[in-house]
Amino acid sequence: MPAQKIVIDCDPGIDDALALVLAHGSPELEILGITTVGGNVDLARTTDNALRLREFLGFGGVPVTPGSAGALLRSRVNAAEVHGDSGLGGALLPPATLPVAAGHAVDFIVETLRAAPGEVTLVAIGPLTNVALAVLKEPRVTEWARGLTILGGSYTRGNFSPAAEFNIAADPEAAAIVFGAGWTVTMIGLDVSRGAMTTRAVADRMEAMGRLGTELLIPCVGFHGTITADGGPAIHDACAIAHLIDPSLITLEPAVVDVETAGRFTSGMTVTDFALRGRTPNALVGTTLDTDRFWDLLLDVYARVAESVER
Ligand code: BDR
Ligand code: CA
Repeated sequence: MPAQKIVIDCDPGIDDALALVLAHGSPELEILGITTVGGNVDLARTTDNALRLREFLGFGGVPVTPGSAGALLRSRVNAAEVHGDSGLGGALLPPATLPVAAGHAVDFIVETLRAAPGEVTLVAIGPLTNVALAVLKEPRVTEWARGLTILGGSYTRGNFSPAAEFNIAADPEAAAIVFGAGWTVTMIGLDVSRGAMTTRAVADRMEAMGRLGTELLIPCVGFHGTITADGGPAIHDACAIAHLIDPSLITLEPAVVDVETAGRFTSGMTVTDFALRGRTPNALVGTTLDTDRFWDLLLDVYARVAESVER
């Protein structure tokens, strides 16, 4: 099977970093480009982190294109208390020597999808500002994309607020545009990603992965939360990538998702109706994660990437 072509729109971000390691190390995927958005930390840092990760991991040929600094209509929020001021927790990767690509993320997304209709999957693991702007600029991206998979939303409880998940809450208007654009959004939300917890056993395996483990994985997850025998920080964004590599890991159910943009207590909530009530589904929503197989996949890929980082 030829590799699935993807563009990753991200805001690294600890779990974004772990998602990038997974995508880079998976022969099932071909990364055509990385686009960045302000989110967990500001755009300058998310972009710098993407550049550092690209060189540390060794995929210098993949363009990194910066995009939107903040939400469409709202003031910027961030998650520096979760990801650290740098965005990568305790990881201190060497400064990048290769530059960002010329141009803007929104144009990169539009032109990459235009160039290969039906072939490229867009994966968004940060706020949806760039994706919404791409849809507004060229509505045919929704036809050209092979699919859009996001890490974001929740049909149970939020993490930014009781009702809303961070990536949606950071730019609810953008999310509303994306969910309302006429394509089917694959929504991998907190309901699923909360299960991707880095337990002690997982962290022990990461620790034994040479520089990848000691300089990136452990300083990231160790910063993200407390690792225990049966719990630990969830590496949300990696779930979206894992779904593309092996769709059988996450069960999807059709639903209508409306994004709350006006709620006083619920702004950014992804109101998810599995009952449909006569409406056409606009989303396939992740409902279960096969945790054991998820970690088997991840740790196998990470072990492979670890070898290449040593060389
Ligand atoms: C999402 O929010 C961010 O903090 C993470 O990087 C992830 O994309 C989880 O809610
Ligand atoms: Ca993210």
